[in-house]
Amino acid sequence: MRPPRSRLGRALATGVLCAATALGTLATGAAPAQAADQPLRDLADAKGIHIGNALAGSKLTNNARYREIAATEFNSVTAENAMKWGVLEPNRGSYNWGEADQLVDFAEANGQQVRGHTLIWHSQNPGWLDNGDFSAAEMRQLMRNHIETTVGRYEGRIAVWDVVNEMFNDDGSFRRTIWYDALGPDYIAEALTLAHEADPTAKLYLNDYSVEAVNAKSTAMYNLARDLKARGVPLHGIGLQSHLILGQVPSTMQANIQRFADLGLDVDITELDVRIQMPASADELRRQADDYRAVFDACLAVSRCQGVTVWGVGDNDSWVPDVFEGYGAPLMYDGNYQAKPAYDAVAEALGGTTDPGDPGDPGDPPGDGCVADYAVANEWNSGFTGNVTIRCTGSSLSGWTATWDFPAGQRISHAWNASCTQSGARVTCTNVSWNGTVPAGGSTTFGFNATTSGSNPAPASITLS
Ligand code: G3I
Repeated sequence: MRPPRSRLGRALATGVLCAATALGTLATGAAPAQAADQPLRDLADAKGIHIGNALAGSKLTNNARYREIAATEFNSVTAENAMKWGVLEPNRGSYNWGEADQLVDFAEANGQQVRGHTLIWHSQNPGWLDNGDFSAAEMRQLMRNHIETTVGRYEGRIAVWDVVNEMFNDDGSFRRTIWYDALGPDYIAEALTLAHEADPTAKLYLNDYSVEAVNAKSTAMYNLARDLKARGVPLHGIGLQSHLILGQVPSTMQANIQRFADLGLDVDITELDVRIQMPASADELRRQADDYRAVFDACLAVSRCQGVTVWGVGDNDSWVPDVFEGYGAPLMYDGNYQAKPAYDAVAEALGGTTDPGDPGDPGDPPGDGCVADYAVANEWNSGFTGNVTIRCTGSSLSGWTATWDFPAGQRISHAWNASCTQSGARVTCTNVSWNGTVPAGGSTTFGFNATTSGSNPAPASITLS
């Protein structure tokens, strides 16, 4: 049974004195016309695919909006860096599980699948491994230890592993790595076999970039996968990273996914981003939305495509500007965690509809009012942590009160960043001294802990005044 998970509700307010109306998110089993207001994960669930994100533990800890988006919009979590060898075993024999455990715990608390990333790679290895000058026998033993220890630790909890990452050069030849140099190309089969022994239930993937189109590199991947399957090596899927450039979604992407599917393999889009030369214009953001839509369409068109993981939450979380000078804005949320047109495009690709006249819709052009987003950040048997984020677009708020009715007897026990009182079902929260002004283009978030008695449906609406 799927564990309990948080839900995101959003309320729309216009003008300075605003009465909010509930959007479709709040209704279980909402009619299709309201689907745009469902979190992406609900839309993806309905389509039978995963929508994932690559997360960092420190941001989950320190940023409520990041945490809220990660919990409410995605049904799959990848560790952006936490499960790489250099992070897990910086000193030989001494493991550091903190962030990896945090991500797995977070995913489980929110009913999300975990993709393990990544076991064997040429990059982000610890210095002792890269520079150890180990013999083939020693490398084989190190690989065994690492895979047994890591996959074994999370047996049954990590559904999918990127077992080997980035094994090819662009021309389709094998990349020279410490693993290839020590063990030859069969290091890939050995790693897959070890991972399967450590967790026979995990799906095992090979993952690479620039293999989205039918090209020399993806054909090398195809030939390798066909060979491994023919030999009975435990390989279950292929990850197409999909670090794309604006306007360059390959026309052969769907056909490429299909040819791997025809080998009897699953396929995942594992690291999607679409980078734009900065500054990004409104037109470029719209074209980026088209690219996102095209990638989701290609996945949805092939039944063995298991889903799409986006490589980061907000644009400021992305690796792109650090590596591609002058490029940025590659994700579905901007640097302030406001949804971009790409978000709406993904919602639509997943069967949702969006109302361009509704300024509360993520990705829509800014409207004139302020919106209050209600989110459950964490839930346990008898209670939950809730967050309300007030965001203003065309106008500002100066001194605010947010009011709502809890529908199922929830009671606030403690609030922060707001003064909250509750009378019966009615909750009234007002700003504290330092967050009364929400400027146009700004936002503020307050939070609370509350008790529940059974179910925990979101309020139907939030009134902002
Ligand atoms: O944690 C250290 C920090 O202590 C130090 O102060 C700081 C100084 O630069 O570096 C921090 O480490 C950085 C790490 O990300 C965590 O933020 C590394 O320098 C930086 O190189 C590393 O980049 C990651 C990159 O992989 C490494 O190759 C990116 O976040 C991550 O998004 C990226 O992800 C890869 C996938 O794993 C594989 N496919 C390509 C994708 C993009 O490169």
